[in-house]
Amino acid sequence: MHPRASTLLRRLLPACALLAIAVAWLAVRHADALPLGLAWAAALLVLLVVETRRGLARTAHERALAENLEAQRALNRKLEEAHNLLLQSEKMASIGQLAAGVAHELNNPIGFVHSNLGTLDGYLHDLMAIIDAAERIGEPPSEIAAQRAALAKLKADLDFAYLREDIFNLVGESREGLARVKRIVQDLKNFSRVGENEWQWADLHQGIDSTLNIVWNELKYKCTVIKDYGELPPVYCLISQLNQVFMNLLVNASQAIETRGEVVIRTRRVGDDMVSVEVADTGTGISEDNLKRIFDPFFTTKPVGTGTGLGLSLAYSIVERHHGRIEVDSKPGEGTTFRVLLPVAPAAATPPPAEAVS
Ligand SMILES: Nc1ncnc2c1ncn2[C@@H]1O[C@H](COP(=O)(O)OP(=O)(O)OP(=O)(O)O)[C@@H](O)[C@H]1O
Ligand SMILES: [Mg+2]
Repeated sequence: MHPRASTLLRRLLPACALLAIAVAWLAVRHADALPLGLAWAAALLVLLVVETRRGLARTAHERALAENLEAQRALNRKLEEAHNLLLQSEKMASIGQLAAGVAHELNNPIGFVHSNLGTLDGYLHDLMAIIDAAERIGEPPSEIAAQRAALAKLKADLDFAYLREDIFNLVGESREGLARVKRIVQDLKNFSRVGENEWQWADLHQGIDSTLNIVWNELKYKCTVIKDYGELPPVYCLISQLNQVFMNLLVNASQAIETRGEVVIRTRRVGDDMVSVEVADTGTGISEDNLKRIFDPFFTTKPVGTGTGLGLSLAYSIVERHHGRIEVDSKPGEGTTFRVLLPVAPAAATPPPAEAVS
């Protein structure tokens, strides 16, 4: 029976029951209409029984459906928890990778500033000895000539002419080293945007630059990095998460290059309300079979211990959260281009006016 007719019938069931009783009573009262009346009453009663049974069955079915739905919801909650754990573990993996790169980048300037301080310490001792010798001149005045000669000899022995030049070189070099350390720390802060895990208007170029500096150690031996930046408006986004996307794409690009190659970072405005960020490499490329699987969690072609296979799946979910998409072009043997397309202001997030960019 049509579901609407069945619902109507169920609503009419009490009326049917009354009608059946009325028809039976009338049939008993009017002997000539008895067979027809009883037949009608019987038909109504059968309908009543059938529909009541159907109604009971439907209630049981609906209860089963509701239980099923609840079970599905619980499953979804568990899946979401597992997904969050996955994101967390990827974060840990990328933090580990990042920490190693940053440690290396910091090690270099800190190493030479430390060594320069050792040399400066020696220079200061020599200078103090020269100053002491200079202060002794004229006491007693009779020995002035001998004292001058001793001072000249000391200056020659300690290579005062060289010391005088080198001391300023060392100070200049150390200041430059410390400025590099300061810049790396600033980049780290920009990259992670500590405490700013909120939607905000952000400059994607600044995010890409900071990320690039963070992964520089990974790239510098193999890649010539070319920045082809267009005019980008501020984008309403979770910038620390987008930085993770850029990091994954840049590290993948570098890992795809075997000995020496090029990585181009291209940014463009797309129409009125989208922007694109491309990371193109001249690496190994991706086979057609693998191309279908690269966004799957745990899919990796890298040796055990090198890749977890979570970089692109994480990037995919971050871009999805921004209502954007990722496109890939790849030619095995020639290279790969990943293109991240993002809305300037995702419809789901409600941005304040763009003037509020920090
Ligand atoms: N630029 C690229 N060139 C060639 N292959 C790539 C490139 N980017 C990704 N791939 C392929 O996609 C796979 C999955 O990438 P994904 O970033 O998800 O994981 P991974 O790099 O293997 O490991 P992880 O990022 O967790 O360290 C890679 O193992 C590689 O085979
Ligand atoms: Mg990766």
